[in-house]
Amino acid sequence: LPVPSVQAMVSATGGADVPPRYLRPEAAEDAVADAGEDQVPIIDYRRLMMDHGDEAARLHRACQDWGFFQLINHTVPDDVVDGLKANIQEFFKLPAERKKQFAQERGKLEGYGQLFVRSEDQKLDWADMLYLYTQPPKDRNMRFWPDQPANFRTTLDKYSTAVKDIVDSLLATMAKNLGLKPEVIADRCVGGIQSVRMNYYPPCAQADKVVGLSPHSDANLLTLVLQVNQVQGLQIKRNGSWFPVKPLEGAFIVNIGDMFEIFTNGRYRSIEHRAVVDTKEERLSVAAFHSPNNHATIGPLKEITVHEDEAYKTVDHENFMKLFFSTKLEGKSFLDRLKV
Ligand code: SIN
Ligand code: FE2
Repeated sequence: LPVPSVQAMVSATGGADVPPRYLRPEAAEDAVADAGEDQVPIIDYRRLMMDHGDEAARLHRACQDWGFFQLINHTVPDDVVDGLKANIQEFFKLPAERKKQFAQERGKLEGYGQLFVRSEDQKLDWADMLYLYTQPPKDRNMRFWPDQPANFRTTLDKYSTAVKDIVDSLLATMAKNLGLKPEVIADRCVGGIQSVRMNYYPPCAQADKVVGLSPHSDANLLTLVLQVNQVQGLQIKRNGSWFPVKPLEGAFIVNIGDMFEIFTNGRYRSIEHRAVVDTKEERLSVAAFHSPNNHATIGPLKEITVHEDEAYKTVDHENFMKLFFSTKLEGKSFLDRLKV
């Protein structure tokens, strides 16, 4: 169901009027936590890779207690991170007609457009996005990859590969933290799927009456989000209220997805999160989603459930995705359908 670009709507109207389909006053009623000094755990990737037991232990606690952490000192080169940020900002600045060349096809997610529009009466998110399959390289559909700015494609290619390497290393450490052989999860991710969603949240004069990205947990295994500009907006559900994440410059915000919760039979949980928008400034972010390869089944790992019942059903990858696309994106409603 095609939906107008929010960015185009805001630039045409100044954004003062919010069409009813975007109005969600109930969102403002949810409590936002006063984070105070508290913050999402910070994990130092370089220390982790030097096999510091204490850093691995901190990672384990972050995965168990938060489901989210910030990853600093990672191996994606600064020029790649900065290049990608610049390219994404430039892409969304292109004239509407240029961006439309990369528009999603009806009923499909890939390309330039919006997320999860399933019915005429559905409330809409205050955001546009560009969604691309990036790994394995044979899955790339270059007709959706912008050829402008000129180095968009080469930068995204480098970024994609460097991020995938980090994810493979994290998965090995996380497996060890769970008492598994390091390759148990990573093996299922050989030839695994990575997709990248670049989010553009225009400002909104009535920012507290709209939602940038509806509350959800990620269906995939592990997500790495990079904040593109300085405007904050990501909030995670913690102790019943929304906890604002304060991204560190250049850090990745990493979160556990539903597939990870299923693999670990609930030891690590996916956490609900949402994005809010700013009254005056646009916000941009880029999320890289990682899933096992198409052959891997999605279910509790046998190595984990030796002495316990399986809390989730096992389904093949294709049926997992089918179920996902047929469930309304709302909190953890999708995962609930896979509970035993
Ligand atoms: C998400 O992908 O769920 C959040 C992205 C963001 O921080 O904008
Ligand atoms: Fe998400």
